Amino acid sequence: MKPGDTITVMAKTLSRHGDGVAHHGDYEIHVGGLLPGETGDVELDYVSKQRPRAHGNAVRRRNTHPGRRAAPCSHHGRCNGCPLMEMDLSSQHELKRQELAREYDLEIDRLVVLEEGDGLHYRWSAKRVVDGEAGALVLGSYMRGTHNVADMSGCLVDHPDIVRCAQELVEQANAMRVEPYDELGEHGDLRYVWFKTDGRGQVLLTLITSEPTSPSVRALAERLTVPAGVAWGVNSTRGNDLRGTSLRPIRGSQSLTLDIAGVEFHCGPLGFLQPNPTAIAMAYHDLVHVPAGGVPHGRVALDLYAGAGVTTALLRERFAQVLPCESYPESARQLGIEPQLVEEFLARILGNPRGPARHPDLVVANPPRGGLGPTVCSQLNQLHGSRLHLMSCNPRSLRDDLNRLTGPDGAYRLIRTRAFDTLPQTAHIELVAWLVGK
Ligand SMILES: C[S@@+](CC[C@H](N)C(=O)[O-])C[C@H]1O[C@@H](n2cnc3c(N)ncnc32)[C@H](O)[C@@H]1O
Repeated sequence: MKPGDTITVMAKTLSRHGDGVAHHGDYEIHVGGLLPGETGDVELDYVSKQRPRAHGNAVRRRNTHPGRRAAPCSHHGRCNGCPLMEMDLSSQHELKRQELAREYDLEIDRLVVLEEGDGLHYRWSAKRVVDGEAGALVLGSYMRGTHNVADMSGCLVDHPDIVRCAQELVEQANAMRVEPYDELGEHGDLRYVWFKTDGRGQVLLTLITSEPTSPSVRALAERLTVPAGVAWGVNSTRGNDLRGTSLRPIRGSQSLTLDIAGVEFHCGPLGFLQPNPTAIAMAYHDLVHVPAGGVPHGRVALDLYAGAGVTTALLRERFAQVLPCESYPESARQLGIEPQLVEEFLARILGNPRGPARHPDLVVANPPRGGLGPTVCSQLNQLHGSRLHLMSCNPRSLRDDLNRLTGPDGAYRLIRTRAFDTLPQTAHIELVAWLVGK
């Protein structure tokens, strides 16, 4: 096989980028323009020399997926943010359910979806790269594998508050001829912008430049009427991880107040906000309940990877003592605890057989993408709690953790798994798994 060849294949699944995934001999072929079940003639544009992997585009489709639709967004194709957009919402749900079962052996009882919005307008937090030129700025995202920026104006999955704020920002910045930051030449002014909303009309806008001085940021902030508050962040590092950004308040409120699952939550200019708080609230709710909806309660609960503390607050309504653990200093401070790794936290509990936390009534854990991993799973097996509720944004690592916790050496039995469609139009899925001690 070589680039330029045309082959005929049927896509069986969808990659997380939205390409159809087919097999041809030993090769895995990722095909732009094919949905699962569709067969097409595919022109190859890349064949790996290291592994049996190739990429191509469908030049002719021989059949059509029943859920295929024209993507409702005009940026689709250049912007890669919504890889499932060419499927209707119910087909997206069916695909997610099938993939969980086939790829990860995760049988879910339900896929929980938001009733409203048709899978659009759900994002309450959106970051943009600033591109284009003075007088014609573009706010967008990097196109896959390139440093080219795809325009995201009028993004259909953004909350309407954010769309309005982005529109005004571009108009005013163009009127002032604000320069975008040039990543290659390493000069220019405005680099990234980050919009967050409380879903009720308040938007907090963070303007990010590469340099600690800017010819335009303060004047631009004064011209904007949509955001309730504007902050200025400086980030001169490569890559768009904003955690290292230093910050100055410019005007207005520097914090949003949100209600997530009935818990009041404050979020500042650089604070993490779940992209879809309404949907994630349903997952938090289920995480602290049992699958049928009952409420576990008792003496002691552990909240591992507690983050902003929403689950800690929910658990405190039902347990006499709730011990959160979190390693990120800012979040730990908000929780009133010392930052600590879960590994150290559990080692300390296991080393104190008479301590109150040695026999918790419930352990809740919401680890990052990599999952709990072998050490924490082995510690949880030693702890042998009566209930263990896990939340995960990655079915791969959840599967691995479940194998460690429920396999021959595991101390738990899996009762049920449920999925939450927190980011419609994308392959992302949030999961909650309920386990009980064997
Ligand atoms: C997926 S987030 C969940 C946060 C929180 N439960 C929530 O829903 O908002 C994972 C959290 O775990 C923290 N974290 C990552 N690795 C950790 C570790 N080894 N020990 C303790 N906390 C950790 C991160 O700082 C982050 O806040």
